[in-house]
Amino acid sequence: MASVVLALRTWTAVTSLLSSTPATALAVRYASKKTGGSYKNLGGKSSVRCLGIKKMEGHYVHAGNITGTQNHFCWHPGAHVGLGKNKCLYALEEGTVRYTKEVYVPHLRNTEAVDLITRLPNGAVLYKAFGHVVPAKLEDTFKLVAML
Ligand SMILES: *[C@@H]1O[C@H](CO)[C@@H](O)[C@H](O)[C@H]1NC(C)=O
Repeated sequence: MASVVLALRTWTAVTSLLSSTPATALAVRYASKKTGGSYKNLGGKSSVRCLGIKKMEGHYVHAGNITGTQNHFCWHPGAHVGLGKNKCLYALEEGTVRYTKEVYVPHLRNTEAVDLITRLPNGAVLYKAFGHVVPAKLEDTFKLVAML
């Protein structure tokens, strides 16, 4: 399968996009007949930008444990995850680490993001990646009332 490479490669364009939307790390999902999709990070430096994940998917963490450090926003703080100095992410609860990618729809006032979207190939979807902690003690936070 030939992977689609995004035309927008210039690092400056991506960093200016990031600076206008500080909490934005973007990935693009391409429709693909063979595999049903693949992810690509904008900027082509994902391996460098996404270094620093300390706790992988499924790892058990304690409150206060650092789940990842990063120089650029690669992962955003999700549920029960705090944002520390230098964009590091840390667990607010004891539990299991989960990562998700969620569809990102930039605000129309963000002209750079809108400009980027108009240059994406047909069918491309923008994603933001989040790190979460699923608390281990869920029974303390809600009670099952009834099954539907
Ligand atoms: C995680 O948190 C626990 C409890 O606070 C602590 O004992 C442990 O050293 C921490 N581990 C890391 C890797 O930060």
